[in-house]
Amino acid sequence: MHANSFLSGHFNMSLGRSANDHKSAAVKRARNDSGNKVSVVLGAQWGDEGKGKVVDLLATESDVVCRCQGGNNAGHTVVVDEEEYDFHLLPSGIINTKCTSFIGNGVVIHLPGLFEEIDKNEKKGLKGWDKRLVISDRAHIVFDFHQAVDGLQEVQRQAQEGQNIGTTKKGIGPTYACKASRTGLRICDLMADFSEVKNLVLQYQSMYPALKVDVESELKKLKDYAERIRPLVRDGVYFMYDAIHGPLKKILVEGANAALLDIDFGTYPFVTSSNCTVGGVCTGLGIPPANIGEVYGVSKAYTTRVGIGAFPTEQLNAVGELLQTRGHEVGVTTGRKRRCGWLDLVILKYAHMINGFTAIALTKLDILDVLDEIKVGVAYKINGKRVPYFPANMEVLQKVEVEYETFPGWKTDTSAARKWSDLPPKAQNYIRFVENRIGVPIKWVGVGKSRECMIQMF
Ligand code: GDP
Ligand code: IMO
Ligand code: MG
Repeated sequence: MHANSFLSGHFNMSLGRSANDHKSAAVKRARNDSGNKVSVVLGAQWGDEGKGKVVDLLATESDVVCRCQGGNNAGHTVVVDEEEYDFHLLPSGIINTKCTSFIGNGVVIHLPGLFEEIDKNEKKGLKGWDKRLVISDRAHIVFDFHQAVDGLQEVQRQAQEGQNIGTTKKGIGPTYACKASRTGLRICDLMADFSEVKNLVLQYQSMYPALKVDVESELKKLKDYAERIRPLVRDGVYFMYDAIHGPLKKILVEGANAALLDIDFGTYPFVTSSNCTVGGVCTGLGIPPANIGEVYGVSKAYTTRVGIGAFPTEQLNAVGELLQTRGHEVGVTTGRKRRCGWLDLVILKYAHMINGFTAIALTKLDILDVLDEIKVGVAYKINGKRVPYFPANMEVLQKVEVEYETFPGWKTDTSAARKWSDLPPKAQNYIRFVENRIGVPIKWVGVGKSRECMIQMF
């Protein structure tokens, strides 16, 4: 809807037309002018499903790629022409020179981390990013002391509860906590007077006496960053409104983290601090739900998890080790080994209940190529009885008994497959089974790291 039609709608109402006229005008506006729809890419497991690769694929034909939540706890890999890029805060669409990259209000931004990432990618050939990057003025800022506190809280958890969360120590939890307790500072504050940061430091030092912060040097550094990002900062809500209601545009949203790490729906408390499910797209960009179009869920052909927490299909055996080594399952952000196990359809169905996936990308099928047999978790049992839901309580989840279906391995290299018919029948059978059980069409199957290694099914 253009601003003029929005205003004329109100003008008509003020002329005192009949209720029916209003209704029909409003319905017409909604039908004709609801604007461009955004496509969304979301992690359906515990992260690292290959979202970066799917976004890169779709970004080649997108006009805008947006991040809506999370921070540089994310690590998204994109492989183009043998060059491997990893993105943490930058939307993975940044390498597409025809595409604008937008960091929305729901993202938390560590400015030194952002510039470090930009410098690293410039060395790999990224050019002209400053003409293509837009940052919402409502996004919250991650300070170095948030990162320090993230580390201190992990030490405290270990000491008090005998277990930490295994966070990325990127300051994500403390920054979202500041946001929720209304003490956070945003990019729009950085663009204006920024003295409130001193009060925030004092508050933190009263909670964590061991925390050392050189406020003056932090302020000086931030002022430098403020000048570097000033040309990129916009009113994010208006930016999205304009993108949706201007000329026809393809808009893509790159989810970070994943459904099972979602603050509301994930394996709490072993989660991240934002909504990584579809609701986070609306709140993290300031767009209406009606403008959400395709919702693509990304899942590996098996399951991995970094950090601590329940993982019902985890394989603490030779299978888990094989998946870890063949899949190079090492965290992009922290370098930690990822825990590995069989595909879990209970979590995928749960992620679908929340997100309403319209299609799935199933990645890393090639990693299963050498296995004699492949198992898939199809149901959870508690006290011998199948449960139709995903348990909220971690102690219950730790104890569920997983029911598996077993498939014969295809024992064939799939990495050169480029279309459905190139895949061995046993692999096709596995994919069709997964598709039927989740009840969502599988649109892509990944058989390697690079852009070309993605079989498109429809
Ligand atoms: P993201 O966080 O969801 O973007 O995923 P990450 O980049 O953290 O981890 C996915 C890893 O798997 C990366 O190293 C990718 O290059 C790699 N990858 C993605 N898809 C495939 C695939 O189909 N096959 C193989 N072998 N590797 C893949
Ligand atoms: P991408 O976008 C995998 C995990 C951390 C930890 C927990 C909380 O690459 O899929 P945090 O630092 O967010 O407070 O850590 O969440 N985690 C991820 N695991 N991939 C991610 O992102 C993750 N982002 C957070 O390992 O267990
Ligand atoms: Mg990752």
